[in-house]
Amino acid sequence: DLVIDINNPIHEIQPTMYGIFFEDINFAADGGLYAELVKNRSFEFDAPWMGWKHLPETETRFNTVNELTIVRDANNPQNPRFVRVDKGDETPEFGLENEGFDGMGIKNGEKYDFSFVARQNKENITVKATLIDTTGNIIGSASTAVNGNDWKAYEVVITPTATFGAAKLQVTFEGVGQIDIDQISLFPQDTWKGRKKGLRKDMVQLLADLNPGFIRFPGGCIVEGRTLDQRYQWKKTVGPVDQRETLINRWNTEFAHRPAPDYFQSFGLGFFEYFQLSEDLGAEPLPILSCGLACQFNTSETVPMDQLDPYIDDALDLIEFANGSVNTKWGKIRASMGHPEPFNLKYIGVGNEQWGQEYFERYEAFAKAIYTKYPDMNIVSGTGPFSDGEMFEKAIKELERIKPELVDEHYYRTPDWFKENATRYDNYDRERFKIFAGEYAAQSVQTASPENRNTLECAISEAAFMTGLERNADVVYMTSYAPLFAHVNRWQWTPDLIWFDNLTAYGTANYYVQKMYGTNPGTHTLSIKREGENVTGKDGLYATAAIDKNSNELIIKVVNTLGSKREVSLSLNGLSKAVEGTMTSLHGDDAGVFNTIEEPSKITPSESNVIAENGKLNLQMPSNSFQVVRLKL
Ligand code: AHR
Repeated sequence: DLVIDINNPIHEIQPTMYGIFFEDINFAADGGLYAELVKNRSFEFDAPWMGWKHLPETETRFNTVNELTIVRDANNPQNPRFVRVDKGDETPEFGLENEGFDGMGIKNGEKYDFSFVARQNKENITVKATLIDTTGNIIGSASTAVNGNDWKAYEVVITPTATFGAAKLQVTFEGVGQIDIDQISLFPQDTWKGRKKGLRKDMVQLLADLNPGFIRFPGGCIVEGRTLDQRYQWKKTVGPVDQRETLINRWNTEFAHRPAPDYFQSFGLGFFEYFQLSEDLGAEPLPILSCGLACQFNTSETVPMDQLDPYIDDALDLIEFANGSVNTKWGKIRASMGHPEPFNLKYIGVGNEQWGQEYFERYEAFAKAIYTKYPDMNIVSGTGPFSDGEMFEKAIKELERIKPELVDEHYYRTPDWFKENATRYDNYDRERFKIFAGEYAAQSVQTASPENRNTLECAISEAAFMTGLERNADVVYMTSYAPLFAHVNRWQWTPDLIWFDNLTAYGTANYYVQKMYGTNPGTHTLSIKREGENVTGKDGLYATAAIDKNSNELIIKVVNTLGSKREVSLSLNGLSKAVEGTMTSLHGDDAGVFNTIEEPSKITPSESNVIAENGKLNLQMPSNSFQVVRLKL
């Protein structure tokens, strides 16, 4: 059936080919990857008590309590609010309760750091932290006294005696006196790489398992913000965590499909941490910055051209932050955060999903400034949210003139669109810019509806589409599914690659497709033909082939989108000896099936051994299947 020419590599496949796109949507950062369990730890949400409740919880007391007051410190503009706790000898026990993010995921026997900053104004108060389950049973506690009238950090360890996904943290005050308290925090000690106050280990591991070639951050629409004021400003996300100014999340607003009024960004996961994560995973960092245009779906607020300089400076300073020597202003800040070595930033994105003259005008001003100072930088431009139609064509015309290195295209389309578009880049003008397929996901039904699922059909159609991305690796340099993460109870958008609750996380069928591509990228494409033609969907069959010159392996990816099984025979021209290898298969009889938090492994790949003899290999392809064969040459 399929003939592969193993001796004639065609296009180089970029190491960046399969990557990930991170956005703080669906509680992916605060309440997700960032392992902080306390919501609104420094009382800086628009409503200072959001996420907190006063104890004891009687109606009258809640309304009249004056032992707990919010105070503003004008000398601390990034984090002005703190709580004053006043306890007289007649006052009955009182305190605060934090609800976490839909509760807190607590694991039996693990260690949790409870911390806060405080100062004593008069006499002694002991701060006690207690973890409770929904019925009020205590599952762990620890306490520490506050002493000294300077702001100081306090920390104690809680070792819970039960596992519970919806725990709450009660903070009560014992003794008589007055203290000020802020930054009330609870983190597991068992984080990714054991970093203190770091990232959720299970979630990062799922990312590491994808073997990503790059990480695009921090979004998405949150880069742009609903208004310019609410855009993502990376400078406010680096340096000491308590000086990172809290900001409303773009997905908090009425413009989100499922708005979450308690969605704010603490920026505990900020630009330094994104660079560090990219380095940990061996992925190229790809930051995207505001181009001076707020989200065009929302306010479309626009910075006049003669006031664009601070935005452009943000881009130039970011490159200095990532790559500059420790003697530069921003390189020094990176070093002060524990990373004197540069992060070797090579790519930077200007604007997300923006279009029209106002975008291209601004893009050009950024590009001029960036190339003047950093001629080797690769700049990524957007095309708007379109992948075809009049607006898209207009954008492409502009981009042909402007010539960015990479152009970011987004496709949130039906499974049929994905199957039909496996040939999208076959006749692409090779002289044009390169493609970053920066956001894509097949939609089983309407985007963001609860019924829009990560079905096997969607995953298989994406696998089919990706054969076309890989075949055209001389044009397509980067690809990433979107969005990446979603909390099962707190999402704003569907479908998503990885779902999680407070205790666990699982990969969807789409995740396994990404993983099968990401862990089997190859270094060069090979010709794979059926009756002399590319294998692009006739009778539901799609294929691509590559060689990994580093490991000397042949990699063949075949997709069967039919609801019936078939046999596919492969002729490996140029190979006569018998060679052994593995075959990874993702499949299922029911194309509508999807993994869930209760049943996370309904669709997972299975692996078997294969042998090719006399240059032949037969694949038994089940219905709705994606198979990757790896042969040691
Ligand atoms: O991935 C979700 C959103 O889709 C992104 O924020 C935006 O870029 C696109 O519209």
